[in-house]
Amino acid sequence: MEGINSTADFYRDEAVDLMQEYTICESLSRRESPYIKVLECPRTYAESVISLLDGSGLLGRGTRLCEVGGGYGSLMKGLLESAGGRIDRVVMVDLSSHLLERQRRALEPWASKVSFVNGDIETLSSVLSENDLVIVNEVIGDLPTWVGIDGGHLPGEIDRLADRYDLDLPRTGRFNFNMGAVRLVEALCRGRSAAFITEHSSDPIMPPGMDYLARGLETDGYPREIRLAGHREYTIRFSHLAAVARYFGRDFETGNLAEMVGIADSPRNRAVFLGRMTGSDEQEVRYELLDHIREYRWMIIRQAGVDLPSDHG
Ligand SMILES: C[S@@+](CC[C@H](N)C(=O)[O-])C[C@H]1O[C@@H](n2cnc3c(N)ncnc32)[C@H](O)[C@@H]1O
Repeated sequence: MEGINSTADFYRDEAVDLMQEYTICESLSRRESPYIKVLECPRTYAESVISLLDGSGLLGRGTRLCEVGGGYGSLMKGLLESAGGRIDRVVMVDLSSHLLERQRRALEPWASKVSFVNGDIETLSSVLSENDLVIVNEVIGDLPTWVGIDGGHLPGEIDRLADRYDLDLPRTGRFNFNMGAVRLVEALCRGRSAAFITEHSSDPIMPPGMDYLARGLETDGYPREIRLAGHREYTIRFSHLAAVARYFGRDFETGNLAEMVGIADSPRNRAVFLGRMTGSDEQEVRYELLDHIREYRWMIIRQAGVDLPSDHG
């Protein structure tokens, strides 16, 4: 059945428990987390994000940051702990007043430079343009998705987007389309801020040497439903986000989140994943993380022609 999937009521009204969503950011938020032991070198999610942003020259002195959908505030807390001296001010935007309150508590030590906006990013796009960098970590799968579209009869709005951005869309059968994610990337590209985005993808790319992680995954599919407590999210077709960035003349880089956090092709990872080994706690945690993170991608979108630091690989 064709229609729009929205998670807005869920986030606006519920006291959301992110542990049920198993976000990568929360799984790797503390050094003591068992998931950290799966990484080649133990570091938190925030430390991995800083390393990636530094490589792209996006966290320089005086940075003005905005985070959309900051959940428990763990990523921003980690960024401020490790790179706070370079961050001038932060704006946290969230639809959930409950989660915004958690963010306020987590970021209390930096209260003088952090402000909070309670609202839907779909109607707050002006906030996006007043920053150097906007972080959107595991949020765009929650934005409205047009589901069950008949490829033979595209709704007018989708037909126009497909034309403008040269999007690859099926012309037969039914598929889902990340309406909200495409609109958000459009809004980001119209402003001047760079953006760091992560999410489950419908077109994942595997880390070097780890093609085996694609086993059982559709690697060039259209968004699929993920059922979670009280709501449904959709995976993101990153090639569509790239097409929008290209249209606006933006540069972009993208990669697998597993590689970003430091998961490598070790004999142990290979054996546990391919053998579906879950006999010990260590194996269970390792299998769970590999199985979960393999679908995720990150993307950085930035103004074209900005010089990267000379050691950027
Ligand atoms: C899956 S959680 C991710 C939380 C955190 N970024 C992490 O990675 O753990 C989604 C977050 O986005 C927020 N959110 C969902 N839809 C939103 C919208 N339309 N506008 C602003 N925030 C939204 C939720 O309240 C929540 O904080």
